[in-house]
Amino acid sequence: MKILAIETSCDETGIALVEASVPHLGTSTQTGRPACADRPRFKIAASLIASQIKIHRPFGGVVPNLAKREHEKNLPILYRRIFGTATKEKRLWGKIDLIAVTVGPGLEPALWAGITFAEELAKKHKKPFVGANHLEGHLYSFLLQKKTPISNSQFPISKLFPAVALIVSGGHTILLKMSDLYTWKKIGETRDDAVGEAYDKVARLLNLPYPGGPEVERLARSGNPRAIDFPRPMIYHKNYDFSFSGLKTSVRYYIVTHPGADKNTETKADIAASFQEAALDVLVKKAGRAIEETGAKALFVSGGVSINNALRGRFKKEFGKKVQLYFPSRKFCNDNAVMIAAAAYIKFIQGKKYRPAAQANLNM
Ligand code: KG4
Ligand code: ZN
Repeated sequence: MKILAIETSCDETGIALVEASVPHLGTSTQTGRPACADRPRFKIAASLIASQIKIHRPFGGVVPNLAKREHEKNLPILYRRIFGTATKEKRLWGKIDLIAVTVGPGLEPALWAGITFAEELAKKHKKPFVGANHLEGHLYSFLLQKKTPISNSQFPISKLFPAVALIVSGGHTILLKMSDLYTWKKIGETRDDAVGEAYDKVARLLNLPYPGGPEVERLARSGNPRAIDFPRPMIYHKNYDFSFSGLKTSVRYYIVTHPGADKNTETKADIAASFQEAALDVLVKKAGRAIEETGAKALFVSGGVSINNALRGRFKKEFGKKVQLYFPSRKFCNDNAVMIAAAAYIKFIQGKKYRPAAQANLNM
């Protein structure tokens, strides 16, 4: 099945053309769902992303109406770059089976830009059009890799389950228990700020530009992670929930009580490294407990923060020998439309879909 996917939930405009299939699709007589030995495969024919970083940078964060305006401007440009001339466009539409668009979670005006664009294409070319959950896109982005055990068709995917998934993005920090590829239960999430949001806020406190995550990571490389003992919120709570707002407040308090700290490069690097260490300690602790208590065989880490090398290093060190550890390829960590095609397809093969209307607070 060929899917045209569109992503506009935040500040990246993404369009992708993806060929999706499930080899030997059979239905489990017990659950009515595809047998979990089957795993979908995705061949990427095209994937384009237009970033709006430069537009939002002067404001220190994403401005929803500016994001909508930029999506509306970028969507036809990316579309034309993929579909080319009228002849190529006609040929491609002849092969497209489904249009998928992110319906949430995200910024409502930005989501509507993508939904409206997708709806117009669906009407014009008489194609079915479905919504997709952005978080499911992140969750399933581990399936998009090449050269990993799961990309080998002989690898029985049932060997990965039960599994734990950790989604770490700008808007979410979520822990899931997965009993198979199609079935999960949310076991924990952040009660306030997401971990990516904490990176962005700490970056602002350190006078670093938006988006802050990559800047804090870069600065932390030259700092001492043990220089400042920031709190590890909820680390010993016997649940899988997180809280990162207090950690960010501690960073602010440190800067206020150490005048000049946010100006001195060495101190800034120590703050960045110590903040990162505290955040990673909590993520590692909670993920580790989830693995132990669920008997997980695999851990899937995804979302914008999963591109972070310090995080990858810590997770490999802690869990690399205990479970099969998957991160998405770097190009699929941040928002993109390929993961939206994957999420929509996985819903489609279960006979489910999201209605195509913006749902800013959609969750897992
Ligand atoms: O998944 P994503 O692209 O968008 C959302 O769905 O939110 O994640 C964006 C988040 C931002 O908070 C950004 O600062 C963070 O991912 N991020 C990072 C890094 N690169 C992006 N956080 C830490 N280290 C990074 N290298
Ligand atoms: Zn995202």
